[in-house]
Amino acid sequence: MKYLITGSNGQLAFEFLNKIKKGDVYGFDIDKLDISDEKSLKECIDWLKPDIIINCAAYNNVDKAESDSEAAYKVNAYALRNMALFSHKYKTKIVHFSTDYVFCGKEDFIPYGEEDAPAPLNKYGMSKLEGEKLLYSNYENFLIFRVSWLYGRGKQNFIYKLNEWSNKFSEIKVSVDEVSVPTFTGFVADISIKSIDSNLKGLFHLVPKGFVSRYDWSKKVFNIAGKEVKIIRAKQSDFNLPAKRPSFSAMSSQKISVFFGINFESWDYYLERYLKEGEKL
Ligand SMILES: NC(=O)c1ccc[n+]([C@@H]2O[C@H](COP(=O)([O-])OP(=O)(O)OC[C@H]3O[C@@H](n4cnc5c(N)ncnc54)[C@H](OP(=O)(O)O)[C@@H]3O)[C@@H](O)[C@H]2O)c1
Repeated sequence: MKYLITGSNGQLAFEFLNKIKKGDVYGFDIDKLDISDEKSLKECIDWLKPDIIINCAAYNNVDKAESDSEAAYKVNAYALRNMALFSHKYKTKIVHFSTDYVFCGKEDFIPYGEEDAPAPLNKYGMSKLEGEKLLYSNYENFLIFRVSWLYGRGKQNFIYKLNEWSNKFSEIKVSVDEVSVPTFTGFVADISIKSIDSNLKGLFHLVPKGFVSRYDWSKKVFNIAGKEVKIIRAKQSDFNLPAKRPSFSAMSSQKISVFFGINFESWDYYLERYLKEGEKL
């Protein structure tokens, strides 16, 4: 089995590169393969003829995407159409990741299922939704996992930022009106690999159980890490960020958890394991 992992310097790619033990694994970062470059993407797929592409590459700067949406669409959307078209010949399976930001937010506090209609509030969410559509409308051999609030080994996540802020400031303001599911990259990689091995196809939500506000998540992080930090309750509007985020975008993974007969643990179970066994704050 030959794997191509795109965006190989990212936090999710890190887990795949560590966890896939059987087969030939080729991890390419943006310098080796820019997925938005149609010609390079075609040449790479024609040369490697991978059995599986795990697409971890993404334009993830949610705020910058508001003023730079063309760049976000190139990576998060149009590249998926090309990946699908170039993969036909080799029947390559494409494993792709999307986001809870394809949803606009709910008021009933019932997590979103796969059957709920997306309606993104920001350009990043729009580009990711377009990527999903361009993949499944052009190809059948795909897996799309919608994930949320990813954290893992790397710098592009909220836990890393919390730690940085706590070392610089005496108090930190965090929003209470953003609720979703913090998701450990190791959990996503484990279930994705299991899904690949089971030849699963389709679109699934992939997050642990439960949900939490960013404010309570921050409190939990410092509590587990045994670090005393003053956290101030804030609202999204206090930060005046370019991109609007949904207030409640938690998703339910019931569909995939029933498929595998696995009862996923709650988000704080994975957080505790991550902070105690892995990363130290
Ligand atoms: N992080 C989250 O909270 C979150 C939430 C929901 C969904 N997701 C989705 O989950 C997936 C994995 O995210 P992640 O957190 O692992 O992201 P990440 O750590 O930011 O990794 C993404 C990688 O893709 C690279 N990249 C950017 N443009 C590229 C291009 N044109 N060609 C090739 N590589 C490119 C980035 O390089 P540079 O760093 O040099 O730009 C980075 O190394 C993505 O699809 C993301 O949209 C993430």
